[in-house]
Amino acid sequence: MTQQTPPPPAVEPSAHRLSLTEKASLTSGAGDFVTAAAPEAGIPAVTMSDGPHGLRLPKESGDGGQVDLHSAAPATCYPPAVALGSSWDPELAHRVAGALADEATAHGVRVLLGPGINIKRSPLCGRNFEYFSEDPLLTAELGGAMVRGLQESGVGAALKHYAANNQETDRMRVSADVDERPLREIYLRAFERIVRRDRPWSVMCSYNAVNGTPLSENHRLLTDILRTEWGFDGVVMSDWGAVRDRVAALRAGLDLQMPGTHGRTDAEVVAAVTAGELDESVLDTSVERLARFARRTAGGERSGTRMSVDEHHRLAGEAADRCVVLLKNERDLLPLDPTSGSVAVIGELARTPRYQGAGSSQVTPTRLDTPLDSLRELADGARVDFAPGYTVPGGAATALAAEPTDGLGDEAVRLAAACDTAVVFLGLSAADESEGFDRDHIDLPDDQLRLLERLVAANPRVAVVLSNGGVVRTGPWHGTVPALVEGWLLGQAGGGALARVLFGAVNPSGKLAETVPLRLEDSPSHLSFPGEEGHVRYGEGVFVGYRGYDAAAREVAFPFGHGLSYTAFAYTGMRVVQARDAFSVSVTVTNTGRIPGREVVQIYSSGPAGSTVARPPRELRAFASVSLAPGESREVTVEVARGELAHYSAREGAWRVEGGDYNIEAGSSSRDIRQSAVVGVEGDPSRIALSGRSTIAEWLNHPVGGPLLMERFLAARAEAGAAAGAMEDPAMARFLAGMPLEVIAEFPQSPVGPEGVAELTALAAVGTPPGNE
Ligand code: BGC
Repeated sequence: MTQQTPPPPAVEPSAHRLSLTEKASLTSGAGDFVTAAAPEAGIPAVTMSDGPHGLRLPKESGDGGQVDLHSAAPATCYPPAVALGSSWDPELAHRVAGALADEATAHGVRVLLGPGINIKRSPLCGRNFEYFSEDPLLTAELGGAMVRGLQESGVGAALKHYAANNQETDRMRVSADVDERPLREIYLRAFERIVRRDRPWSVMCSYNAVNGTPLSENHRLLTDILRTEWGFDGVVMSDWGAVRDRVAALRAGLDLQMPGTHGRTDAEVVAAVTAGELDESVLDTSVERLARFARRTAGGERSGTRMSVDEHHRLAGEAADRCVVLLKNERDLLPLDPTSGSVAVIGELARTPRYQGAGSSQVTPTRLDTPLDSLRELADGARVDFAPGYTVPGGAATALAAEPTDGLGDEAVRLAAACDTAVVFLGLSAADESEGFDRDHIDLPDDQLRLLERLVAANPRVAVVLSNGGVVRTGPWHGTVPALVEGWLLGQAGGGALARVLFGAVNPSGKLAETVPLRLEDSPSHLSFPGEEGHVRYGEGVFVGYRGYDAAAREVAFPFGHGLSYTAFAYTGMRVVQARDAFSVSVTVTNTGRIPGREVVQIYSSGPAGSTVARPPRELRAFASVSLAPGESREVTVEVARGELAHYSAREGAWRVEGGDYNIEAGSSSRDIRQSAVVGVEGDPSRIALSGRSTIAEWLNHPVGGPLLMERFLAARAEAGAAAGAMEDPAMARFLAGMPLEVIAEFPQSPVGPEGVAELTALAAVGTPPGNE
């Protein structure tokens, strides 16, 4: 498909040529998915489309740009983020985004509404299928690659949903009440990294509030942090319908209200400027940003483009190959032999696959591979028979049957008993999980679990294949099946990928981007999800996902980063080389099995011992993948910036690397650490000014104050021995450590008297870098 596109605007856009009314109208949508144009100022309209894993092509009716959401034109449905997350492959995400950009350009779409980079705080979030991971680094690497892939091809990304939009319950109103440290370290971290490094042309603000202020009116998040701290120079658009007070939103830094309101809120802007309530320069700034946005996105039009349905379907399949996660494979049940034997394929989901999530991201695929057809195509002598086992009425968009399925079950059990192996497709329906609501449990449907029990009794050689957008509980039954494949929602070509993995044409290499807990109750956010009366308190702090399971030493069904291969990998010879601002971590990986395979090497850090803040036992700092022939070894090297070790100090209002020994680990999963090394890291100087209220521990940890106070203790010991001796008694030293200096100063034996506190404080201030004192 090719398209002739008009040349870019000749006139440099300028807000100054526009009247107040025209300017106001530019800051809201002209239709559901299109911005307003101002041809006289050289500002073209910008057409947008959902996103993120395929185009939901707006079919506008022509009268005011209303979009029929249920009849999108066909577009390639790539694996949604839940699957792509498991690829741990930014290069792949980059290629998928490039193909998405080609399709967008072919259809005149200038901005794709994605990627979605919210963190999976709870397994219950109905939109987890649209997000990559419970980890911000993995999210940032994949989301950032998508931003680059889109924009290098001239199509704008809209990074969403900014910020702390981690649930669907009450999503349009709820306030995410989150402390500064988890906000920075977990929920903003991927946004920060992508904004700074990959420079998205737009950001979509979420519906919810953070700490009481709706995002669309949140000056701190939209302006102070996003623009001033991170240097964002693009447009902030609202999520669809997220604006409550248009004038307040503009003031906070929201440039574009989507969709438009047919001029109603534009008039509010005009009135506010006229009445002197809104400085016109605020509006001008937003118009300038929108003009730049239109100019940037118009750049892509020049290239015109080609979109090959076949090629893109192939890419969707290749991507899906990388996303499948082999969770379990006892006695090498998999791969199955395509040349002989018999396979019972059981489960309606094998014939009627669920391959994407429900809601605004739903794509009308250009074609659809089913696992069943693909298995039959790939079988080269093996017999493949099918029994549905249960029903999926009405296809992917409707609930799986609650009606009795005994007849179907009997048939499936007979088939399983008659075949060498049973491949059982189980999963969730769109009615179970979707944009707009959260799940209330993580179990598979009862009828499927009852069926599985009967199948296993009939034939113990069972491989279960899962289709689900959010994790499901496997703990109660995974011990009864030798093989388990997590297929997530794999996009339109996912059926082929599953068949290739099952028959061994593809050696699986996906790794979990989220923990599979044993029980919902184990999940770190469990007691504070989804909140009540308009507030959700992020009570688990930074202990999200594996950070929390590890800190609480909870057993899990399958840990973050886990994923098996049909071959095996050995790790040897880890080295850490430190430079000033980074260290490079190298480890040699060897394919010790008999077939080629790809391993994702994960680098975690922990420590330092004696940290002044609560730290997760380990945090992902880097990853890299390596493809190896049987017997082949290769050294994998990744760089970790020193700053990655920082925590966000709410008190200092800044990131801070604590000095000390950090453990650097190389693992095949977060709970399969193969190599480790200790590195000593020099800390950042504290930016906190010492005072009489500072504790002895704070004084002693301070680079300037510490030696000063120690000097006094030593001098006192030389004189009397009393107080200084106290510091040498470990219990007493601990007791004193938590006391403010001015309290100690009142003790008669104190080496610093009340009058000395101010003097010492002044001395300590010299040489301390300026901060938030
Ligand atoms: C969703 C966004 C989406 C927008 C436009 C909203 O309801 O939250 O993710 O891009 O609709 O369809």
